[in-house]
Amino acid sequence: MIETITPATQLYCIFGKPVSHSMSPLVHNMLFNAFGIDALYLAFEINDIKKGVDSIRTLGIKGASITIPFKEAVLAHLDEIDETARQIGAVNTVINKDGYLWGCNTDCAGAVEPLKEALSGGESALSSGTLDGKNVLIIGAGGAARAVAFGVKQEGGNITILNRSKDKGEKLAHQVNGKYLSLSEYSEYNEQASANTISNHLDHIDIIVNTTSVGMTPNIDESPVNPSILNKNMTVMDIVYNPLKTKLLKDAEIAGCKTVDGLSMFIHQGAAQFELFTGIKPSRQIMRETVLKKINQKDNLK
Ligand code: ATR
Repeated sequence: MIETITPATQLYCIFGKPVSHSMSPLVHNMLFNAFGIDALYLAFEINDIKKGVDSIRTLGIKGASITIPFKEAVLAHLDEIDETARQIGAVNTVINKDGYLWGCNTDCAGAVEPLKEALSGGESALSSGTLDGKNVLIIGAGGAARAVAFGVKQEGGNITILNRSKDKGEKLAHQVNGKYLSLSEYSEYNEQASANTISNHLDHIDIIVNTTSVGMTPNIDESPVNPSILNKNMTVMDIVYNPLKTKLLKDAEIAGCKTVDGLSMFIHQGAAQFELFTGIKPSRQIMRETVLKKINQKDNLK
């Protein structure tokens, strides 16, 4: 790799804190290499996103991925923000067009594309499924939930937000013309308190997306929903990818649901980002295999 770096090598990067766990350098460098592009992608752990953005301008960095905790703060420092990213209030991709910095959000498409694939029967299916008219329960109301919710809304889905804190949940539900379901209403449903409106509502859910960290290592025996609400007509997606098969996804498989794991969203948002960086649409299957190989190597070392 060292031999291939030249004075003309273009630099791409990720800014975040922490970034030591990030799989983005692995994936983007693999793709640059595979397509013979003279570019390099590095991870920078920074404290100040303004200085990060200044460095994009100073060093002529061609493109940057933005991750936690800077996805919201970065907006103030860019020259132009894509409309969807502005609505979500978060940018995860910055493109440097000759010094003019444009920000957008690929998490949105990253969440929606694998859902559509699952609805149609997988990546190899001839046409993708549609979210139009589907009832989607989104658990959580943070940054990831916002990206998922705006993506689903753009595709015509009907949204219900289930969140621990009411204010955030209600606000997001309102912004996407959805409905807010409080945890207490949800618990009431779990206790089977007769056929009330909540149960009617939950009975018609087609898709569940968990955007909270519930079920993430080390709390792998936790799930954000009671398995009793799952049925075989549902598609269930978890954005947690550590572990890849969360308790929620295991319960969903047992219930006969279609499942979408957290790596899918990571891969799809990264593929959309690579296309913005280079104009090339990469194979998501190869990206996924690259990440899985790395995860398995790490597991073997433990
Ligand atoms: P991200 O940007 O990854 O979405 P975030 O903005 O911190 O992260 O949002 C995390 C979401 O997961 C929030 O909606 C949070 O609920 P609150 O709004 O009540 O804080 C939710 N969440 C995190 N841990 C949770 C837990 N243990 N139980 C229920 N909800 C949880």
